[in-house]
Amino acid sequence: MFLIGLGLLPALFCASVARAGNLTFHMDSVVGILEDLEFYLKDTPNVTVAELFQELAYCGSKKCQFFPSPMTLMPLDLPFLSQEQKTFLKGLRNQTVDGSLVEHGVVLAPDGTTISPRPLLVGIANGSKKKQERPWLAMALDTGPSNSSHLKPHLALDPLFATTIAMDLAMSFLLFHAKQSQVALGPNGCWDNLSAPHTFTLMGPPSHFTDAFINGAMDGLILGFYVAEKAGLPSNLSALLNDYYGEEGVEGENQLRSNFRRKNFAALVNEAKLREQVESSLQLLQQQNETASLFENMTSEEVSLLARQAAEEFMALYVECPAVIPRCMWGARPYKGTPTQLKLPLHFVYIHHTSTPSKPCRTFSACTADMRSMQRFHQDIRGWDDIGYSFVIGGDGYVYQGRGWHWVGAHTLGYNSKGYGISFIGDYMKALPGAYDLELMKNNFLRCAVRGSKLHANYTIHGHRQMVLTTSCPGDRLFEEIETWKDFRVRCFLNHGVRHCV
Ligand SMILES: *[C@@H]1O[C@H](CO)[C@@H](O)[C@H](O)[C@H]1NC(C)=O
Ligand SMILES: *[C@@H]1O[C@H](CO)[C@@H](O)[C@H](O)[C@H]1NC(C)=O
Ligand SMILES: *[C@@H]1O[C@H](CO)[C@@H](O)[C@H](O)[C@H]1NC(C)=O
Ligand SMILES: *[C@@H]1O[C@H](CO)[C@@H](O)[C@H](O)[C@H]1NC(C)=O
Ligand SMILES: *[C@@H]1O[C@H](CO)[C@@H](O)[C@H](O)[C@H]1NC(C)=O
Ligand SMILES: *[C@@H]1O[C@H](CO)[C@@H](O)[C@H](O)[C@H]1NC(C)=O
Ligand SMILES: *[C@@H]1O[C@H](CO)[C@@H](O)[C@H](O)[C@H]1NC(C)=O
Ligand SMILES: *[C@@H]1O[C@H](CO)[C@@H](O)[C@H](O)[C@H]1NC(C)=O
Ligand SMILES: *[C@@H]1O[C@H](CO)[C@@H](O)[C@H](O)[C@H]1NC(C)=O
Ligand SMILES: *[C@@H]1O[C@H](CO)[C@@H](O)[C@H](O)[C@H]1NC(C)=O
Repeated sequence: MFLIGLGLLPALFCASVARAGNLTFHMDSVVGILEDLEFYLKDTPNVTVAELFQELAYCGSKKCQFFPSPMTLMPLDLPFLSQEQKTFLKGLRNQTVDGSLVEHGVVLAPDGTTISPRPLLVGIANGSKKKQERPWLAMALDTGPSNSSHLKPHLALDPLFATTIAMDLAMSFLLFHAKQSQVALGPNGCWDNLSAPHTFTLMGPPSHFTDAFINGAMDGLILGFYVAEKAGLPSNLSALLNDYYGEEGVEGENQLRSNFRRKNFAALVNEAKLREQVESSLQLLQQQNETASLFENMTSEEVSLLARQAAEEFMALYVECPAVIPRCMWGARPYKGTPTQLKLPLHFVYIHHTSTPSKPCRTFSACTADMRSMQRFHQDIRGWDDIGYSFVIGGDGYVYQGRGWHWVGAHTLGYNSKGYGISFIGDYMKALPGAYDLELMKNNFLRCAVRGSKLHANYTIHGHRQMVLTTSCPGDRLFEEIETWKDFRVRCFLNHGVRHCV
C-alpha cells in the first residue's frame, strides 16, 4: 500500500545518491542501500524503514505462508534506487544454492563471516513490530516448558523464532531425515575475492540450512530480541547494522557485535527452548500439504526425536563450538608438498603464544594479515610446509584454521603428531589474552574437539615450554593461567636417572 505513497514523492526521482561502481557482495552494499532508503524516507513518517525492510526481506519460502506479512509483496519499485541496487536487493531475497555449489543471496560481513541478509532483516522487522505487542514478547522470553500444550501446537511457536531459526532448522533436519539432502547443517564456503566478493562457493554438498543462512538467522534473532526489548522501532537501521557489523574492531567483551554471535545467541536461547520451537515447527510442517509427505510413516515420538536431534546438534556445532575462519578466508597459500594425516583422536593440546605478532588482532583484516605473515615466515624463513600451528586464536572473537584438525603441524618439536598446537596471537610473558579468548579456548574449543572426536575424552593440556625446555612459550603469564585449567598436567621425565617435573 505504501508504495503508492512512495510514488507520490516526485522530488526523489531525479536526485540519486546511488553508489558509483558495481556493488560487491559485501555487507557494506546492504548497509549502503539502507542508508539511501533512510535518506529518502526520512520525511515520510508514515513509511518506516522497518516496514520497508519487512517487505524487502519478504520471503517466498514456505514458512512465510504460516506467518504472512501484513503487507503485500513489494515489487521493489523504489524509484530512487539505481537499477543495480534493485537487482542486488532482488538477488538477496532469493537465497539458493545452484548446481555448482554457488550460494546466491549471501554477503560477506566485515568480521569475515558470510551472512544471508533475509533472515536477518526478517528478525529485525519482526522484533520492531513486537514492541507494541507485549504478550508476544512475554511468550518469547518464556524459556521454561510452556503451559501452552493445551493450545494448538503452532500457537506455541514464537514468530521471531519461527521466521529466523526454528522453521528452517526443522526443515533442514526433515529433508535430511527423508534422505533429500546429504547433510543436516552447513556447510561454510569460500569467496572468490575478499576485497571484491562476487561468488561464494560451498565446501561441500548443501543442506537446507547453510552456514551463511544460519549466521543470518542467528543475527536476526539476536537483533530481533534487541530491537523488541531495548531499542524499539529502529528509525536508523543502517546505524544499527553498522554498529553490529562495524569494521572498527572488537573492544571489550559482551558486545552486541557479529563477532560474538554465538555467545550472544547462547544468552538468549537454550537447548530446551530451541527444541520446543523446532518441534512446534515440525508439527506445523506436518499439517501442510506441501511438506506432509516428508513425514510419511513418522510417529509423533519420531517427530519429537528429530526435534531433539536438531536442537542438540545445532547447539553443539553452532553455539558451543567456536566459529573457525577457514584457510580460504585468510588468504592462505597452499600447503607445500603432501601433508601427513593425524591419527585421531589425539590425546594432547599444546598451548603457544605467537610472541610475534606481539599484540592480539581486533579486526578481520588485522587477523588475516597476521595469519598470512606467520605462514610466510614459517614457509619461507623456517622452511616448513605450512603455518606451524593447528589453530590460532585471533583476538577478534574467532579461531583461525592453521593446519586444522587432520594434518600434522610444526609447533611442538617431537610431539607434532601427538597433539594439536594452538596459539594465541600476542606476547603473553606479562599479560593475559582477553577473557573472551581464554574462555573460547578453555571451554568452547576443547569441548567441541572432544565432541567431534578430534580429542580423546581424557586429553591433557600442556604449555609448549613443558615439551621443549628451551622455550619460554606460551609466556610466563599465560602459562600460569593454563596451570589452573582442569586438564592441565605437569610433565615428568627422567634425565640421567634424575626425575624432573615441569
Ligand atoms: C503516506 O503519506 C503520503 C503523503 O502524506 C500519502 O500520500 C500516502 O497515501 C501515505 N501512505 C500510507 C500508506 O498511508
Ligand atoms: C557495473 O558498472 C558499470 C559501469 O559503472 C555498468 O555499466 C554496469 O552495468 C554495472 N554492472 C551491473 C551488473 O550493474
Ligand atoms: C543514521 O545514523 C547515522 C550514524 O549515526 C547518521 O549519519 C545518519 O544520518 C542517520 N540517518 C538517519 C536517516 O537518521
Ligand atoms: C512477525 O511476527 C508476526 C506475528 O506476530 C507475523 O504476523 C509477521 O509476519 C512476522 N513478520 C515477519 C517479517 O515475518
Ligand atoms: C531464485 O533463484 C533460482 C535459481 O538460482 C531461480 O530458479 C528462481 O526463479 C529464483 N526465484 C526468484 C523468486 O527470483
Ligand atoms: C500452568 O497452568 C496451570 C493452570 O492454568 C497453573 O496452575 C500452573 O501454575 C501453570 N504452570 C506454569 C509453569 O506456569
Ligand atoms: C580482487 O578484486 C580487486 C578489485 O576488483 C582486484 O583489484 C584484485 O586483484 C582481486 N584480487 C584477486 C586475488 O583476484
Ligand atoms: C490439502 O490436501 C487436502 C487433501 O488432498 C485437500 O482437501 C486440501 O484442500 C489441501 N489444502 C490445501 C491448502 O491445499
Ligand atoms: C510407509 O509405510 C508403507 C506401509 O507400511 C510403505 O508401503 C511405505 O513404503 C512407507 N514409506 C516410507 C517412505 O517408508
Ligand atoms: C587415557 O589416555 C591414555 C593415553 O594418554 C590411554 O592410554 C588411556 O586408556 C585413556 N583412558 C581412558 C579411560 O580412556
